Amino acid sequence: MCGIVGYIGPRQAAGLLLEGLRRMEYRGYDSAGIAVVNGHGLEITKAAGKVTMLELELEGKMPTGTLGIGHTRWATHGAPTTPNAHPHTDQSGRIAVIHNGIIENSSAIRKTLERRGHTFKSETDTEVLAHLVGEYYSGDLEEAVAAALREVDGAYGLAIISADEPGVLVAARKGSPLLVGVGENEWFVASDASPLLQYTRSVVYLDDGEMVVLSRDGYRVRNLETTRISKPVNQIEWDLAMVERNGYPHFMLKEICEQPESLHNTLRGHLLEEEGTARVTGLNLSDDQLKQVERIVITACGTSWHSALIGEYMLEEMARIPVEVEYASEFRYRNPVVDHRTLVIGISQSGETADTLAAIREAKRRGARTVGLVNVVGSTIAREVDGGIYLHAGPEVGVASTKAFTSQVAALALVTLRIARLRNLSILQGREFIQGLRLLPAQIARILERSSELEHLAERFLGTATNALYLGRGVNFPVALEGALKLKEISYIHAEGYPAAEMKHGPIALIDENMPVVFIAPKDAVHSKIVSNIEEVKARGGKVIALINEGDTEIERLADATFTIPVTLDLLTPILTSIPLQLLSYYVAVARGCNVDQPRNLAKSVTVE
Ligand code: G6P
Repeated sequence: MCGIVGYIGPRQAAGLLLEGLRRMEYRGYDSAGIAVVNGHGLEITKAAGKVTMLELELEGKMPTGTLGIGHTRWATHGAPTTPNAHPHTDQSGRIAVIHNGIIENSSAIRKTLERRGHTFKSETDTEVLAHLVGEYYSGDLEEAVAAALREVDGAYGLAIISADEPGVLVAARKGSPLLVGVGENEWFVASDASPLLQYTRSVVYLDDGEMVVLSRDGYRVRNLETTRISKPVNQIEWDLAMVERNGYPHFMLKEICEQPESLHNTLRGHLLEEEGTARVTGLNLSDDQLKQVERIVITACGTSWHSALIGEYMLEEMARIPVEVEYASEFRYRNPVVDHRTLVIGISQSGETADTLAAIREAKRRGARTVGLVNVVGSTIAREVDGGIYLHAGPEVGVASTKAFTSQVAALALVTLRIARLRNLSILQGREFIQGLRLLPAQIARILERSSELEHLAERFLGTATNALYLGRGVNFPVALEGALKLKEISYIHAEGYPAAEMKHGPIALIDENMPVVFIAPKDAVHSKIVSNIEEVKARGGKVIALINEGDTEIERLADATFTIPVTLDLLTPILTSIPLQLLSYYVAVARGCNVDQPRNLAKSVTVE
């Protein structure tokens, strides 16, 4: 959700900033812009649309200069036009600001400034902030920024430079992610580590309320008052190769295909075969503390919310503990009933989703113990929870989440196993569950080998569809939701996921010969029920595509097409059934010429409410 990058050092900044923006484009791609300070003052270039539009704009006229900032936007205030693109400048045109977040009192500040003679060129809250900094500026950018920020409400990750101070970059954070890259005689700020991996893996994570001042001699972190803050330097594990496409046409396909490995990495080191349990020391919860938990609330957004639903089935079934799954955006505003006997699990690929972070904070405020299942190491949620499990799925760049989802389900399986073994699961059952988990990476690989079957199914049933229905029961109901979400996110086909039996209470009215209906129907405890649901759809002329286990001749006879998945334990089937659905939506989107990695209007990391 908006990517920001800044640089100060010996290199030419413009090319480096552009490269950084390309790597962060998944955070937003409505418009992009850069500002560089050089002997002529401030040179700003911006363009509506993707970073390639900015590159075209800069062709043959790259500004020189070794201090600069760049921004790729996901529009909140104002349409995605060039005037609304960042960087924005103050009244004098000598201070440039890039910003990720929302300044909530910008209208009031704007009115005050207008009364003082300021004129605005855009509709953005960011331009108001730039003018406010300018209003306070009297030769010291650092102090002007601190003074302006003391007046604003809302969320920001921002970076600011001034034509009058060619050796200073000021950045600040409140609510939107920001880190400092520490290189050799060069320093970076960025929303995430992807733009700086090429140059350094040493980073300092800023916390809310902190400002950093980068100069040609180093960096200094402080708060909005004057207090200096000493921060640890962390080493990032990811390298550049991990955030590149490596020959795949799209990040999404690369990430789908990485799942045997990403799943293996999530499970690695956690499975205790002998004891039939999971080692999850990162939760920071003793056996006694875990036994005292009376209720679990899982909170998340988007795809992560779907994995949470699967966790609910697992935990209730195996650990016999009551679980509730809440959209983070709802949880935080509805006076939730949680206390010190409630374990609140936040799930987030990015670790930066604003609503999930706010929900975690709310749970903590109410005395709950919080745990995070997070992919990005060092992200805000990971740092704020009491304990957690890192997914170790590797960087996920495609906006549609794939490998993070299966890793989230695997991490939930680990938490489930640990809690269940402390309550009622026998050692033998624990071992059987571990055996099931261990087989999954190879089983996923077998599914991936047959991806061309899914390419054909995509063409045959969904190529021209305008609507689709995804139906599943039990633990595969959330998979139906996720399958439908994947399809609508990247191919813009309207799709709905539904519990298969619930279909009779509404969606059945939509079924006709033009409606593809995808059934998730492995041979599990509810198999015979789902067979009846397939009959109901067929009786109304719907086209049935079913995910089944090998040898399921009953559904094979009924369905228009089937795709077989290997047999696993009932509760683990979502990890296998979700893979063909990811591929199905991928191939549909490619066939329809959609931009798979950057679907319209979406952003990978939603850092605003
Ligand atoms: C956005 C992304 C989704 C993601 C959701 C939650 O909507 O497009 O793919 O599932 O945010 O993100 P998180 O990083 O918290 O898992």
